[in-house]
Amino acid sequence: MSDTLAARGRISLTRYLIELERDADEGAALPPSLRLLIEVVARACKQIAHEVGKGALGGVLGEAGTGNIQGEAQKKLDVIANEILLEANEWGGHLAAMASEEMATVFPIPGHYPRGEYLLLFDPLDGSSNIDVNVSIGTIFSVLRCAEGSRPSENDFLQAGKLQAAAGYAVYGPQTQLVLTLGHGVAVFTLDRETHSWILTDDQVRIPEDTKEFAINMSNRRHWEAPVTRYVDELLAGRTGPLGKDFNMRWIASMVADVHRILTRGGVFMYPRDAREPEKPGKLRLLYEANPMGFIVEQAGGAATDGAMRILDIEPAKLHQRVAVFLGSKNEVDRITAYHA
Ligand code: AHG
Ligand code: MN
Ligand code: MN
Repeated sequence: MSDTLAARGRISLTRYLIELERDADEGAALPPSLRLLIEVVARACKQIAHEVGKGALGGVLGEAGTGNIQGEAQKKLDVIANEILLEANEWGGHLAAMASEEMATVFPIPGHYPRGEYLLLFDPLDGSSNIDVNVSIGTIFSVLRCAEGSRPSENDFLQAGKLQAAAGYAVYGPQTQLVLTLGHGVAVFTLDRETHSWILTDDQVRIPEDTKEFAINMSNRRHWEAPVTRYVDELLAGRTGPLGKDFNMRWIASMVADVHRILTRGGVFMYPRDAREPEKPGKLRLLYEANPMGFIVEQAGGAATDGAMRILDIEPAKLHQRVAVFLGSKNEVDRITAYHA
């Protein structure tokens, strides 16, 4: 925690957002409806954290017995978290529509509620394979502005990541934390489990430019493209190899948890495209995984590319579009991107 933050005392998420709302001089003024949106999402994440914490006692573990549009089997918590986010956000008047990993198409705000100016996208439960083994999981969200006019459709969501009004994630781990960017840096809030409020615990998140840590699922090595194999071989070669230093490896298989470690102490995260499903450009989804994480990482001084270009510049063609992802400490992301050139 920074000295300046400690000196300001205990700052709740609400106070943090209200102070931003008043911050007109900085050109950073937060619209009240965006403040409401963030507060509602944060409240929903608190509720998801509560469900996650019940585990076997609440009957929330295991398969839901259904599949999503991605062809993945849904876990009970994928479905529960999706429902919590929909119910929390549909009536407040701040949104025009929502979209989710767990829904085939967009969810327009029902006609009997007022319609707002924002679009919300989410990965309700990230790292589903870790739910039943009690390893950190999370929720990822992205906020876009909606063009005025008729009922929002999938097309309204197809905006480049650089147009995001806000992005964030919650991580459900030993601590429950909310990480948020509104385009003016990255703030971290920790859930006070006694008062049930989000308290600011870091507002100066910076990803070190250099790192000695990488994250990739090594079991896919035989399916990678040449630039990725070359780069990872160089990482593994360590001090006597071309990079001249030893690297450590971590792979949690929850993007939220891997990105959170990188925000905290640096590192490079890679989920490249590979030959397993050649028609798909990677595993992770652009609109509700790569874009929000790319926005957060850039706001913390890191970089995010698909190997060829900045993630946030990609013009999406489809709601559930996939993308290769390289993100984290700037100098390593620049290196792997250059290897693709
Ligand atoms: P989700 O649980 O939302 O489908 O996302 C899982 C993603 C991501 O969180 C993680 O980085 C990656 O899948 C792990 O994939 P592997 O199991 O292929 O390592
Ligand atoms: Mn995910
Ligand atoms: Mn998910």
